[in-house]
Amino acid sequence: MAKKLFIKTYGCQMNVYDSARMADVLAPLGYAKTESPDDADMVILNTCHIREKAAEKVFSELGHWRLRKAAARAAGGDVTIAVAGCVAQAEGEEILARAPFVDLVVGPQAYHRLPELLARMARKQGAERQQAKTARKNQPMRGQSMQGLGVMDTDFPVESKFDHLPDQVATPPGPVGFLAIQEGCDKFCTFCVVPYTRGAEYSRPAEAVIAEAGRLIAAGAREIALLGQNVNAWHGDGPDGGAWSLGRLLHALNDRFGAAHPGLRWRYMTSHPREMDDDLIAAHGEIAALMPFLHLPVQSGSDAILRAMNRGHSADDYRAVIARLRAVRPDIALSSDFITGFPGESDRDFEATLQLVRDVGFASAYSFRYSARPGTPGSLMPNQVPEAVAAERLQALQALLQDQSTAFNQTMVGRRMDVLFERPGKHAGQLIGRSPWMQPVVVTDSGLAIGDVATVTITAASATSLTGQLALAGGSREAA
Ligand code: SAH
Ligand code: SF4
Ligand code: F3S
Repeated sequence: MAKKLFIKTYGCQMNVYDSARMADVLAPLGYAKTESPDDADMVILNTCHIREKAAEKVFSELGHWRLRKAAARAAGGDVTIAVAGCVAQAEGEEILARAPFVDLVVGPQAYHRLPELLARMARKQGAERQQAKTARKNQPMRGQSMQGLGVMDTDFPVESKFDHLPDQVATPPGPVGFLAIQEGCDKFCTFCVVPYTRGAEYSRPAEAVIAEAGRLIAAGAREIALLGQNVNAWHGDGPDGGAWSLGRLLHALNDRFGAAHPGLRWRYMTSHPREMDDDLIAAHGEIAALMPFLHLPVQSGSDAILRAMNRGHSADDYRAVIARLRAVRPDIALSSDFITGFPGESDRDFEATLQLVRDVGFASAYSFRYSARPGTPGSLMPNQVPEAVAAERLQALQALLQDQSTAFNQTMVGRRMDVLFERPGKHAGQLIGRSPWMQPVVVTDSGLAIGDVATVTITAASATSLTGQLALAGGSREAA
């Protein structure tokens, strides 16, 4: 009988991609994915280490799975508990010490070795059971041991996991296919754990990316999001041997698949302002199917703070990139990430962030209170900002950003746009799709299905979503 695999994913889109690939790796071993934790034979917690709160979630979630495992064992079965992702990479030893019932700890670069790890785990636990049996003959039983049997792989292997992950897409991607083209980061922003948890920048070769895009499209994807921690730092080998830029890759993908799949949409995330080169900016003007939306984290609008963060660009550099993007693609909408309360941030620094936000005008944004992460240079800086100050600034920033997203969404009322429908809504008859600008669009009783692209007239807008009515099934056959 097939074993059931439940994966819980935290953190960024790279983790979403990795979770799907782990399911692909385990499928040949007889694991079928389940959406219900209660019938899982194996659970993978694919974790995120970016902020303290994210990392803490893992241990509370593990408490729940400890009970599930004990109950399964009492009934003569078992639940295999695996911790993957960035907490596994950063705190693998600590997890095995604090939660000895965890069977497996696997870092983001070792997912292709999951079958080997499972086999190692089975050998270790088999030997332990044998020992326990012998011991039980000699002394009264004291309950089954759940101690210290976990196996761990948090190496950064020389071989790339991408070369060893299976080609088959075991789980259909849904309307939006995630495709990791780049992984890791060499930027070392002073607040960030990613360079430590994901390792050095690596770019997959262009041909591998094109082949995987083909598989995702064949499996039903209508939109492909190219992913990387620093996706625009991608410099993969082209078929001609030389290194390609992301702009060139986007052209190659669009040329290869665009004609046969009208309406197919492309995005890429997450980008670094320093890597927005001429090719990539030009691509935004040249490729209609490249969606007019860019998530470009800036973190702060103060040059002093940007320097302390080691971002490698000024606030005006950022403004200049935005101006160039808008020159080639006037309808492009911007989104960003911000941190408030980075060490040394003064009221004036924070005011510079508000000013940058006013100058650029964002369609949406994520903003966070600074979280000092172990092992990062920022955590050792002397001038830490009190939590209350950082929280107050966050509130002010979010109020401004929310005004901007509401205003941006309001501009959509009365407009027609192509929407890709991705999931059911909360109420009967509702479907939720995405606009070219990443806004969720809700339609009711449209007769549409998930995976459909249709032209929708927008009738109402809020800070976070749009409501619309079907104007044309099938969409305009144009991208945006
Ligand atoms: N690679 C991307 C995103 C990295 S993580 C980039 O270069 O921007 C996503 C976001 O989390 C970051 O953009 C940042 O805003 C936030 N973040 C990262 N580390 C953080 C920390 N220590 N405290 C608060 N927010 C953090
Ligand atoms: Fe982290 Fe900076 Fe790298 Fe982004 S660019 S992943 S914020 S170190
Ligand atoms: Fe989190 Fe790791 Fe992504 S720390 S944001 S899961 S790269």
